[in-house]
Amino acid sequence: MDISVRDLQKVYVTHTGEEVVALQDVSAEVGSGEFVSLVGPSGCGKSTLLDIVSGLTQRSGGDVTIDGRGVSEGAATRHVGLIFQKPVLLPWRTTFENVYLPAQLGREPAGRGRGDALRQRARDLLELVELGPFAEKYPWELSGGMQQRVAIARALLLEARVMCMDEPFAALDEFTREQMHLELLNLWHAQGFTAIFVTHNIFEAVFLSDRVLVMTPRPGKVVAEVEVDLPRPRTSEMIGSDRFGENIRGVRSVMQEHWVA
Ligand SMILES: Nc1ncnc2c1ncn2[C@@H]1O[C@H](COP(=O)(O)OP(=O)(O)OP(=O)(O)O)[C@@H](O)[C@H]1O
Ligand SMILES: [Mg+2]
Repeated sequence: MDISVRDLQKVYVTHTGEEVVALQDVSAEVGSGEFVSLVGPSGCGKSTLLDIVSGLTQRSGGDVTIDGRGVSEGAATRHVGLIFQKPVLLPWRTTFENVYLPAQLGREPAGRGRGDALRQRARDLLELVELGPFAEKYPWELSGGMQQRVAIARALLLEARVMCMDEPFAALDEFTREQMHLELLNLWHAQGFTAIFVTHNIFEAVFLSDRVLVMTPRPGKVVAEVEVDLPRPRTSEMIGSDRFGENIRGVRSVMQEHWVA
């Protein structure tokens, strides 16, 4: 599914009545099946943007369309999976029950046999993120990386065709993060979803993406984009290559240009 964001604005009203312009005229296009990263300074509105695309937050102005339909005019936001910075699992539910949760939240049309099919899909997804043997464990029995994989599997349960990921690997150690990158790319190749990935990590943005969108400090705007010039599939060996280094330098210089006043 493709996503189009045009002149998007978001003004929050704080509990003291003050207005905070979080996004001002943000425009961006993400093609169907494309993997795009979003980088920008803290507070520039990245999470706000993902929340609007996934239908969690109302916009104040502008348009967001998914496959040509507006998010408030019946766009398929139920096909949008959102992964938060923290795994946000329910501690009283097992791994399996956490992955199966969206099936029980009523966003899905019920149908005969649909529950069985989704239970099977939950099991398959757990295999895909290599957590099959942990299906009956509780979140507190899993490491941070494993919990985040549960959250990823959960976001994919209802066949998400768009995945919005908000710094999903920020809390992981370097080694686990690298493994997660490869797993995420495998999932992306296998499932073909459109990916929007928020990160502060330039290496991560370059390694994963087709394009990196750069935002300015608040009120956020997308000011530049950098095309990543690396072949697919991405491999760990690429990380040390000259070409990888050139891409990193490219993104870094664009960020410096726009972040430093
Ligand atoms: N519910 C809210 N009420 C008022 N202001 C808010 C609310 N949510 C976010 N903001 C403000 O909107 C701006 C953008 O916030 P947002 O969380 O989207 O930034 P971000 O780019 O995701 O930052 P970070 O990189 O730190 O996660 C910030 O200035 C924040 O204070
Ligand atoms: Mg954020």
